[in-house]
Amino acid sequence: MGVPHVPQRYVLPPSQRPNPTLYLTTTLPIVDLSSLHNASQRSQTLDEIQSACKELGFFQVVNHGIPLAVMNDALDAATEFFNLSLEEKMLLLSANVNDPVRYGTSLNHANDKVHFWRDFIKHYAHPISKWIHLWPSNPPSYKDKMGKYAQAVQVLQKQLTEAMLETLGLNIGHLHEEIEEGCQLMAINCYPACPEPDLTLGMPPHSDYGTLTILLQSGPGLQIMDNDRNWHSVPFVEGALIVQLGDQIEVMSNGLYKSVVHQVTLSAENKRLSIASLHSLPLNKKIQPAPELVDEQHPVSYNEFSFRDFLDFISNNNIADRRFIDSIK
Ligand code: SIN
Ligand code: FE2
Repeated sequence: MGVPHVPQRYVLPPSQRPNPTLYLTTTLPIVDLSSLHNASQRSQTLDEIQSACKELGFFQVVNHGIPLAVMNDALDAATEFFNLSLEEKMLLLSANVNDPVRYGTSLNHANDKVHFWRDFIKHYAHPISKWIHLWPSNPPSYKDKMGKYAQAVQVLQKQLTEAMLETLGLNIGHLHEEIEEGCQLMAINCYPACPEPDLTLGMPPHSDYGTLTILLQSGPGLQIMDNDRNWHSVPFVEGALIVQLGDQIEVMSNGLYKSVVHQVTLSAENKRLSIASLHSLPLNKKIQPAPELVDEQHPVSYNEFSFRDFLDFISNNNIADRRFIDSIK
């Protein structure tokens, strides 16, 4: 806090620094979900979701059914958590990706060659009764506020995942249970104001591993990459939530839908908070391209993998840098 310069260990090599001259400011898709439950208008909403999934693997949603007060309460709980003393937060420090609650900094503090300008707390959230007792007990309202938001997001992710599989023309009957039993990992991020935001990043380019991520943000900073490798800054839309497709959907769709590569830039003036709810099918479920989407013109393009395989791969290979994961996908 209050440092006049970015310490050397956060300074990225010039080719990896954010480059504002290359950012595009095109309009990114915003889907109004109020028609998702209206039989006569549902297909129009599904068409909008489908084109956003094909083109970018990204869209924002409005009228998603989660009250603004629930979202703001979750952000307040996050603010209060990060305002605790370092000693208190350090009680939850863990570098083990298998721990159910982890406080940390950067991406993987112990292994990162260059550090990222971020603190985080991560915890599992579904089913809530299994995990909530492990969550921070300080601030005292954390469990209640974060819990209400986590449960509301879990309802929304089910609607969105089912809608997305429907737009792929997949028979999702057999998947209902797995979508219900899947994992929900909350990653709550704090990006302090940064004295030299051109030298470093809050998060490096990466894609998320699951089916989809629903993201609540307190202000701008997120950027997404399009198919031509251009970066787009995601506008802050009050009350909206961001939806990002993950690797499991890319694999199931045999590449028809893309998991979106994204990064986080910093501001010299403002701290930013974000709450990412990462959803994935059950830990041991092997994900493979849906047979309906494979034919002579569209041969199988991905190896089968489970979320458990992915976590084991990361911890066995001591991988800190998700760009490596991107390059072996
Ligand atoms: C993430 O990629 O998990 C965080 C994105 C963000 O903070 O906007
Ligand atoms: Fe991410």
